Amino acid sequence: MQTRVLPFSDDAITEAARLILAGEPVAVPTETVYGLAADATNAEAVARIYEAKGRPSFNPLIVHVSDFNEARKVADLGPLSTELAERHWPGPLTVVAPLKADSPIASLVTAGLPTIGVRVPGHRAIQALLQAVGHPLAAPSANASGSISPTRAEHVERSLGGRIPLILDDGACPRGIESTIVAETGGELRLLRRGPLDIEGAAFAAAGAKLESPGQMVSHYAPSKPLRLNADEAGEDEYLIGFGPVPGDSSLSPSGDLAEAAARLFDRLYAADASSGKTIAVAPIPERGLGLAINDRLRRAAAPR
Ligand code: TXA
Ligand code: MG
Repeated sequence: MQTRVLPFSDDAITEAARLILAGEPVAVPTETVYGLAADATNAEAVARIYEAKGRPSFNPLIVHVSDFNEARKVADLGPLSTELAERHWPGPLTVVAPLKADSPIASLVTAGLPTIGVRVPGHRAIQALLQAVGHPLAAPSANASGSISPTRAEHVERSLGGRIPLILDDGACPRGIESTIVAETGGELRLLRRGPLDIEGAAFAAAGAKLESPGQMVSHYAPSKPLRLNADEAGEDEYLIGFGPVPGDSSLSPSGDLAEAAARLFDRLYAADASSGKTIAVAPIPERGLGLAINDRLRRAAAPR
């Protein structure tokens, strides 16, 4: 299959919507990472996502909808998640809630779970696509299962080129790491995945949030080369990704800005993977604020596999 790359435009959205309604998956940027989107009400289309990614089928997908009212058609949002959603949607927040009884979502999307992960994205490209398609879109990150998440169209091409028909190109994703995931159960919010939101913030803490280790595979976001963390200097034949005072071969953020570092993280990992270095090292990232979410990704990327 030939993978076309189209810059964001009305015509590109029309073509993407046509493919999606014909049951094909299309890569589209969101504010977090590029997603591989398919019609969430069409089981066969959703199966093509799993097929293109080579993803284990027990891993449920996030459903993207255009606004809060659409979210309520697929999920029974409790009071705590409603409050969070009102504060952060459209934005990098995914809420896991009971699946609505009469929802049109294909059961392959939730991998048969009685819950669903839903989010209202803030990026113009996926919002335009949601409007044009008129159905919820299931979309995991647009990379082969277990590899680095894509924050540019080129990343998607490298990972899924030849396996999907179309990539919508709208430049680099502003946030650069996947959405924060929370679940509401028994009147409490649980954090399932750290993401761009400052969940140490007052609103979330007041809601009684507890940190829960994500039910994800330990080795994830993996480059093809070994990765060493907390490095102050490069070893022999090693590509060093710097941060703050550690310059490296390239830097996540020379000024030590964690938001900039998050936005560049996967891009630098792709560059390191494509470099002539035999191994990759990353400078220490402070364990606070967005640094928590960055270090979570880095530990997974460095985990033995
Ligand atoms: O920012 C994002 O969230 C990106 C963009 C494309 O929206 N999407 C993304 O999807 O990161 P994915 O499939 O790579 O990660 C989805 C995560 C998985 O760890 C999955 O286990 C979890 O969400 N998830 C989805 N539905 C769930 C559910 N019902 N219960 C628990 N976890 C769920
Ligand atoms: Mg992913």
